[in-house]
Amino acid sequence: MATTPPPQTYRVKSFGCQMNVYDGERMAELLGAQGIRPAAEGEDADLVVLNTCHIREKAAEKVYSDIGRLRRDDGSSPLIAVAGCVAQAEGEEIMARAPAVKMVVGPQAYHRLPAMIEQATLGKRAVDTDMPAETKFGALPARRKVGPTAFLTVQEGCDKFCTYCVVPYTRGAEISRPFNDLVAEAHKLVEAGAREITLLGQNVNAWRDDSNRGLEKLIETLSEIPELARIRYTTSHPNDMTDGLIAAHGDLPKLMPFLHLPVQAGNDRVLKAMNRSHTADSYLRVLDRVRAVRPDIALSGDFIVGFPGETDAEFEDTLKLVDAVGYAQCFSFKYSPRPGTPAATMDGQIAPEVMDERLQRLQAALNRDQLAFNQRSVGQRCTVLVERKGKYPGQWLGKSPWLQSVHFTGEAEIGALVEVELVEAGPNSLAGRLLA
Ligand code: 5AD
Ligand code: SF4
Repeated sequence: MATTPPPQTYRVKSFGCQMNVYDGERMAELLGAQGIRPAAEGEDADLVVLNTCHIREKAAEKVYSDIGRLRRDDGSSPLIAVAGCVAQAEGEEIMARAPAVKMVVGPQAYHRLPAMIEQATLGKRAVDTDMPAETKFGALPARRKVGPTAFLTVQEGCDKFCTYCVVPYTRGAEISRPFNDLVAEAHKLVEAGAREITLLGQNVNAWRDDSNRGLEKLIETLSEIPELARIRYTTSHPNDMTDGLIAAHGDLPKLMPFLHLPVQAGNDRVLKAMNRSHTADSYLRVLDRVRAVRPDIALSGDFIVGFPGETDAEFEDTLKLVDAVGYAQCFSFKYSPRPGTPAATMDGQIAPEVMDERLQRLQAALNRDQLAFNQRSVGQRCTVLVERKGKYPGQWLGKSPWLQSVHFTGEAEIGALVEVELVEAGPNSLAGRLLA
């Protein structure tokens, strides 16, 4: 067995959702704590972690092509670890198909990376897709430097078993991290520079602690951190929007007026076949309650077109729901059969060209509403959290409370909260005028 010198440099490439971005950051911190440093831009890394996503099509194929691309001119490869949900779902297969991969590590096992790296340098390949009872979080080093916006995973996994979705299989059952751990991590993030924290979970609004406190209690406690200016959470299930959490949108000024609440489809038969356990109407009623306490809330959602058996008329119901809501921004996808999920073997799989056509129509409606939402914001004064420099000298980019990208010129710095008047709207961003 060929041995490899211990890696000096690493690169973590994360794909997919924000949870993967968070996991990627934590893996980077873990590798940093081992004395491995991030490879510079353009530098060949000794260790590459591909932190993969399995939610939709071609994810696995993409991993194999990424692995191929890591091969160097002399035929050698860096130490490659495949992490994330493709690792969880197809670990053994990856090992069999890609000899360059030395480590396969699932989303619940990545705290064991250092030991796996040590084995890999001795020429031993390892797969760890355990979902251990002890959580990885306790075994990870403390948070280091972060930018003005940070993610904090509070909940992982899903018990909902929507019939199209791999998450319950790749991320496992719903678990909530303990209240005190989360408050401590939030303090660390703020000390490291975060002004905004987004609480993450596959079903973040299902978060509960042992004393049955819900997400609103956590948000309330985090609101008391003076230097923390903004709190967001994503992503939520309509059935877990409790009265308490809805009330928090009216009561807690640091909780930003933005709600990502996926609906997936607007037809009740389709929703039932998806095992969504809500109807179009019950979803709309939840939104009414949120709007009652926070009239300016920006609404967001996810949609799937072409679920097996979806008829043209059923798809029209999705468009009707979109018209009824008036979303600020959304994600929409063509249904993608995921191996091992119930929907993958359902009758009535929809032809690709039908899906294309439906997606185009849906996205046209969503784009129209997004532009309209942005245009309605023109003339408003709001706070922008500055995230980075813009393309032009003196230009800055940041986010409005409604999660819109805003650019402006003038005196500012990264991490500052500045007052602007929104003066011009495009589909994807707004121009702001800095107020004194
Ligand atoms: N096909 C298409 N979209 C999917 N999503 C989840 N599973 C699938 C699938 N099999 C979408 C849902 C979910 C988002 C994260 O990804 O809209 O809310
Ligand atoms: Fe997947 Fe449904 Fe769970 Fe969301 S609620 S992660 S779509 S199973």
